Amino acid sequence: MTSTNGLLNVEQLGMRFGGIQALADVCFSVDQGSITALIGPNGAGKTTVFNCVTGFYRPSSGTICIESGGVLHDLTQVMASKLNGGSHRISQVGIARTFQNIRLFKDMTVMENLLVAQHRLLNRNLLAGLFQTRGYRQAQQNAIARALDWLEVVGLRDCANRLAGTLPYGYQRRIEIARAMCTQPQLICLDEPAAGLNPRETEELAALIQTLRAKHKVTVFLIEHDMGLVMGISDHIVVLDYGRVIAAGTPAHIAESPAVIQAYLGVAEEETAQEARA
Ligand SMILES: Nc1ncnc2c1ncn2[C@@H]1O[C@H](COP(=O)(O)OP(=O)(O)O)[C@@H](O)[C@H]1O
Ligand SMILES: [Mg+2]
Repeated sequence: MTSTNGLLNVEQLGMRFGGIQALADVCFSVDQGSITALIGPNGAGKTTVFNCVTGFYRPSSGTICIESGGVLHDLTQVMASKLNGGSHRISQVGIARTFQNIRLFKDMTVMENLLVAQHRLLNRNLLAGLFQTRGYRQAQQNAIARALDWLEVVGLRDCANRLAGTLPYGYQRRIEIARAMCTQPQLICLDEPAAGLNPRETEELAALIQTLRAKHKVTVFLIEHDMGLVMGISDHIVVLDYGRVIAAGTPAHIAESPAVIQAYLGVAEEETAQEARA
């Protein structure tokens, strides 16, 4: 089932936590240049897929391959290398992510948050930093310029010197996207980016995600509960339920899939109530 233009190919992915089989035999691919959504009821295993794909978890079984620079990289091999931290290695093959629960350094400025993300990737040479070599200063200037560029794209350039933790929730979500983009990924994984946003902010987010793909040529892999957003911007949707893929296809195909409707019926009331509270 491997697609020929699959940037990310996941085959028979399994993840077990003690007695819980969180993922079983999960296969899908994310095409280069696509917006691909991963949906499913709470607890279906969506974030666990992201944690495997972004190197936070080592899968119990299966393979995850990403193409980078014309070469196929097996992520389990990338992670097995002990030379550097896992997320650093994952950055090198061009994967970045945001988190379901925002993970900014709240007591740092927005700019500092964006610089930390880049320093992990770009300049690990402590001596160069201590002696402020020309190369280091240049890298620092490039990092600041890149951070400002991405803040501009997400519409928050004015907030560069504000403390991240003092900003509204919707801003923090966009800063996480800017931070991920600062590492110049080819694939960005967004875990429920619309959670907690109001309808206007959600529309702005949809436009931003489309801009990332169209103008900045990044492939987008998206977990999201907001079906309007998912149906509106996705090329391809993968549906998980109880750790298994129950359907995959275009938004039109998914909207009519009996298995998907069945999976959502059981949680429809709970989620409607959650949305009403949000
Ligand atoms: N680190 C972990 N340890 C134990 N169980 C986990 C861990 N992460 C996820 N799980 C379990 O895996 C299942 C899927 O969780 P998750 O991937 O967060 O679902 P989703 O993102 O679709 O809501 C749940 O039963 C959850 O409790
Ligand atoms: Mg989740």
